[in-house]
Amino acid sequence: MTIEIEPGSHAARDLFPVTERYAYLNHAAVSPLNRRAAGAMQRWVADWAAHGTRVYPPAEQLAEYRQRAATLINAAPEEIAFTRNTTEGLLLVARGLDWRPGDNIVTAETEFTANVYPWKNVEPEGVTIRRVPARHGRILVEDLVAAMDDRTRLLAISFVEFYTGYRNDLFRLGEICHRRGVRFCVDAIQGAGVLPIDVQAMRVDFLSTGGPKWLLGPMGVGFFYCRRERLEELNPRLYGWLSTANPDDYFDYDQPLSPTASRFESGTLSWPSLVGLMESIALLLEVGIERIAEYVLNLTGELIAALRARGCELLTPAERREERSGIVTFRHPSCSPEELFARLEAADVVVSLRGGGIRVAPHFYNTWEDIERLLAVLPS
Ligand SMILES: Cc1ncc(COP(=O)(O)O)c(C=O)c1O
Repeated sequence: MTIEIEPGSHAARDLFPVTERYAYLNHAAVSPLNRRAAGAMQRWVADWAAHGTRVYPPAEQLAEYRQRAATLINAAPEEIAFTRNTTEGLLLVARGLDWRPGDNIVTAETEFTANVYPWKNVEPEGVTIRRVPARHGRILVEDLVAAMDDRTRLLAISFVEFYTGYRNDLFRLGEICHRRGVRFCVDAIQGAGVLPIDVQAMRVDFLSTGGPKWLLGPMGVGFFYCRRERLEELNPRLYGWLSTANPDDYFDYDQPLSPTASRFESGTLSWPSLVGLMESIALLLEVGIERIAEYVLNLTGELIAALRARGCELLTPAERREERSGIVTFRHPSCSPEELFARLEAADVVVSLRGGGIRVAPHFYNTWEDIERLLAVLPS
């Protein structure tokens, strides 16, 4: 009999050994490994040690993995390429689009550096980057639109901003980009695994994400989505043997590129990491992303209320549920963020210190008791 895993249940907590000691509220940084992913990775490594190439991963397994990643964002498996991290996917877009001098990229001022440096790669080609400031943590769609003109080629934005937790409205942004002929590129790492993503309804052209945050996977693996209609638009400048239509043909040096997004995979993938990530994505799909989102938004909503009651300053725009995410960042009225961070560390409450605030990021196995452990450390 399989036990249904409810968010916040014993069954959920049991999957995360970290809960034995910590109130682990740091999924916006790096998630702890769960038993299923760790077990799958350990088994894979043990088989490899015992049998070598006899357990060489079959092509069907990769096809199934592509389907699993695609399901998470409502894409097709042909639109998925596996990568090492989020940056690699964003670089595929930066290096792959056919830029002209005078083009511009619109982005926000509050982006994590992973969504900054890839675009700097194309500045020498005469491309300008326009960074739109946030207003009290909110990035207004109107401000992004006002920054666009007829030379805007790309909107590059995070689904969820890493510091404030502000959730951008991908539905509206995608619609606007579609109307204006602007390509829409999303850094999804702070949302994928905790909030639903539908690349079709959101009209996303390119999306990149990485394993070790809300997807609960290991480090060094992620995936990239390229809308089918955009495959030919993106020049795979770093193609390799695994980018070809038939990588198993070792003697034809003139093969065409793969007709799918696998053209962006140059060589052998990090299989132990991929196996772990895929086990975690299976877990997330089993629990259900809609249920996870509902649960985490309730939990962060209650945390926001409790912080307000204690006079804390919220750096997270918290008025509208649809603008919130799994991230809540705050300052205490009397205790410095550094001091509070040290106290939380001492109490085994795991959070991040970011930009002068304490960033709290619970996932579906966290409970109100974890939040209470954090609140108990705040000076009254
Ligand atoms: C918004 C965002 N993008 C990307 C990353 C990480 O990038 P990568 O997966 O390339 O290491 C982070 C990590 O903190 C992030 O917050």
